[in-house]
Amino acid sequence: MYSSKITGLGYFVPDNVVTNDDLSQWMDTNDEWIQERTGIKERRWIDPKTGETTSTMAVKASKIAIERAGLTKDDIDFIIFATLSPDMYFPGGGVRVQDMLDMPTIGALDVRNQCSGFIYSLSVADQFIKTGMYKNILVIGAENHSGGLEKSTRGRGVTVIFGDGAGAAVLSRTEEKGKGILSSHLHSEGKHAKELALEGPATQRWVPEIIAENDPNDVSYFPYMNGQFVFKHAVVRFSEAIVEGLQANNLQKEDIDMLIPHQANLRIAQFIQKKFGLPDENVYNNIQRYGNTTAASVIIALTEAWEKGKINDGDLVVLAAFGSGFTWGSVVLRW
Ligand code: ACO
Repeated sequence: MYSSKITGLGYFVPDNVVTNDDLSQWMDTNDEWIQERTGIKERRWIDPKTGETTSTMAVKASKIAIERAGLTKDDIDFIIFATLSPDMYFPGGGVRVQDMLDMPTIGALDVRNQCSGFIYSLSVADQFIKTGMYKNILVIGAENHSGGLEKSTRGRGVTVIFGDGAGAAVLSRTEEKGKGILSSHLHSEGKHAKELALEGPATQRWVPEIIAENDPNDVSYFPYMNGQFVFKHAVVRFSEAIVEGLQANNLQKEDIDMLIPHQANLRIAQFIQKKFGLPDENVYNNIQRYGNTTAASVIIALTEAWEKGKINDGDLVVLAAFGSGFTWGSVVLRW
């Protein structure tokens, strides 16, 4: 059986910086509240005038990742695209990327696992490579949150948290022993689906019904989050997923060279860091600058950490995420 390893990384975020003070012009919020509760100072939101979309950002990140892998678009055998904010209700973003990159008629799979989307995607890609079915898979996480947030005081509990961006990795076949993805661990608990969700419009309640009801208090087409409930579950599940990954590989927490937690909230990441006794240099956070970019967050953070020379040959890297679904998971890699 083969192994898979990351051979190329790339990310793209829109130029448009939205600070906490900018948000306070549109809603009753302030820099102090946002920083204290979330650690976020600013985020990137697509400027609608640019025409940027989830898929166009994904394409920009993918081009960088493919080039850094020393490959061309024609070497990619398969695309896996994680997002909760696709350009269209259907088809998903994978085929858009395939088209925009002018790739051959390779398969494109869309993954809908929100904040865990990149972890799930990497795991799926790993299985395809292990079996020998594919050699090089483009794995993408990308989000355009700003297009679907309620930018008013009513939406402030959710809106201040999220940012736009995209990241991509090329996962390639390797025969190097002990390198690349060592294991992945995926979980879900659907009974909490409504605690962090965007309910409509969807087939249970479609656009004509929403229009017919004409209810000014209807917020079903904006994301809803039971923040404290999600927070409490996140800290438990993050820890479980990391422990599971370490145990599966007979590793200790001291073996972790770099932990990349999903950038949900700096307080969650700090709680996990403390729990595992990790020094600052062994955890990478960038939520301060980008907010929560959901499926893009782990791959953007991984790419930045690698670009800054914080991940080196032989390092043990742990990726972990938790989010809507609830879904959560981890990937353990030897770089
Ligand atoms: N500015 C100012 N005040 C605000 C804001 C805001 N942006 N948002 C809410 N408030 C107010 C509330 O109205 C409330 O006021 P009240 O006490 O008068 O009723 C007060 O602040 C406290 O609100 P809480 O929601 O209880 O605030 P909390 O401390 O829980 O922080 C937060 C909210 C930051 C969302 C936190 O709960 C959190 O980070 N939760 C986890 C998020 C997460 O991990 N998500 C998973 C990934 S996302 C995904 O999968 C898509």
